[in-house]
Amino acid sequence: MPLLEERSELDLVVWPEDRACDRAWLLDNITGAAGVIVTLTDKIWIAGPSLKVVSTMSVGYEHVDLKAVAQQGLKVGYTPDVLTDAVADLSVMLALMAGRNGGIGTSVVQKGEWKNYSWAPFGFCGPQLSTTSASPKRTIGFLGFGRIAQATLARLVPFGVTHCLYSSNPTSPANHARDAELAAKYKLQAVKKVDVDDVARESDVLFVLAPGGNDTYHLVNEELLKKMKKTSVLINASRGTLVDSDALAKALHEGWIWGAGLDVVEGEPNISVDHPLVKEPRCVIVPHIASATLETRRAMATRAAQNLIAGLLGGQMPAQVDLANIS
Ligand code: GLV
Ligand code: GLV
Repeated sequence: MPLLEERSELDLVVWPEDRACDRAWLLDNITGAAGVIVTLTDKIWIAGPSLKVVSTMSVGYEHVDLKAVAQQGLKVGYTPDVLTDAVADLSVMLALMAGRNGGIGTSVVQKGEWKNYSWAPFGFCGPQLSTTSASPKRTIGFLGFGRIAQATLARLVPFGVTHCLYSSNPTSPANHARDAELAAKYKLQAVKKVDVDDVARESDVLFVLAPGGNDTYHLVNEELLKKMKKTSVLINASRGTLVDSDALAKALHEGWIWGAGLDVVEGEPNISVDHPLVKEPRCVIVPHIASATLETRRAMATRAAQNLIAGLLGGQMPAQVDLANIS
């Protein structure tokens, strides 16, 4: 990381591999360190007395125990904004793949089974994402309506979306002015904050794009999945913990919803081929790659380095987690 290497006042210790850092290595090397750059697989809950700055190369930071680090007076940096477009791109990809049998279709070809499926009038049919004259209404739902959700909505406008419903943190009021502005800009009949049950009930595609952590644990559970349309598709590109995997497998198996597209799964990366979701043909799973473009990962690394340097030198971090209300 040239940004860090060129700072001669910093004494760097770098994990040499392009994979998650071993816990033992981290614990050995963090002793005496003033700052650390981590990824979302490195759980940080207690720091040695020397540590002043934690900089995570991720937009999510539920792997950092904010209460513990706030009590110790640490600063925490993260990487919002720079990954918004990449994650929104992948969310749309998953919506298309899950609706249109992209997962099962690819697997049929790779296994040499195409010959068993000659073109058939209703073969491999799935719900169409874009509107048609027969179905002119399309409701897109979001659990969480931050930057990534809004960027996903923007990408779906040309598909003919007519309604956007979202639910978000119950303690924050709806932003009516912003919603009216979005509705006007995209010519939508509604952009509206509603109850989570109503988002589930109305959505043709439901995107889960909210932060992880205890507050959102299993937000998508059996009860919610039962409210969804049989033709709907569920996408999760946030954290696996938001979706109850067993409930989702049941929903797919019993046809409560049409399909699912997941970038994240609870318990990842230890997901075996016998996992109930892996066995569901209408569940498309990719291994937590939503921000994985070269451009975005470079920008995230740069932001993480900038946050670390600013935090250590006492300047304003480009993106610092607000710990003021953590108690
Ligand atoms: C990825 O999941 C991130 O939080 O950046
Ligand atoms: C969440 O971090 C978002 O940007 O939507």
